[in-house]
Amino acid sequence: MSATLTLIAAVSVDGYISRGTGVPWDLPADRAHFRSYTRDKWLLLGRRTYEEMLGWFQPGHHPLVLTHDPKLLVPNGKAVASVPEALRLADRQRELICCGGAEIYQAAIVHAHRLIITEVHEFLAGGLPFPKISKHDWEPVSRRSQAMDDDHAVSFEIVTYQRIQRLDLAA
Ligand SMILES: NC(=O)c1ccc[n+]([C@@H]2O[C@H](COP(=O)([O-])OP(=O)(O)OC[C@H]3O[C@@H](n4cnc5c(N)ncnc54)[C@H](OP(=O)(O)O)[C@@H]3O)[C@@H](O)[C@H]2O)c1
Repeated sequence: MSATLTLIAAVSVDGYISRGTGVPWDLPADRAHFRSYTRDKWLLLGRRTYEEMLGWFQPGHHPLVLTHDPKLLVPNGKAVASVPEALRLADRQRELICCGGAEIYQAAIVHAHRLIITEVHEFLAGGLPFPKISKHDWEPVSRRSQAMDDDHAVSFEIVTYQRIQRLDLAA
């Protein structure tokens, strides 16, 4: 059985993941969710996001890094030239998790089976976009809310979407 591709992202209400560098929110409960969901998994990341996250990876992570540089050294992982190549490499895994950034979400969403979106209740009014989540292709199947509190200056919901129309992943 081949890997299921999941995209995991934190997205503003107006559809952005970043103002350009870094993640624009400090949300400990979302960080904990991300850490927990990605633990010991195979990950797909763009080269810029990978470099931002250096130092964060744990021994159980297996990062596949999308780059035009086939010589990029990726400890415990590998450089890849395309999303289909990453899916082929992860073939025997239960799940490959795409962690962004914007260019990689755009390239990967057509291959994805599941989206796990932290919908952050804030407007960024610009920045790096997440692809549009079409109601025709995706249905929400679970939703968990986090209110504002001393640790969270902004509220959010973590919404899981499943693809309605399955794609031919061999294409
Ligand atoms: N809010 C969130 O959930 C979230 C999640 C992740 C990241 N982010 C943010 O997103 C930003 C980074 O996003 P980004 O779009 O600038 O960069 P990115 O998607 O992380 O990486 C872009 C790089 O990926 C490689 N690439 C892209 N398309 C390719 C293709 N078709 N073939 C081969 N390689 C390809 C290129 O690497 P080379 O230049 O090496 O060829 C390109 O420079 C950061 O600010 C990060 O903090 C936010």
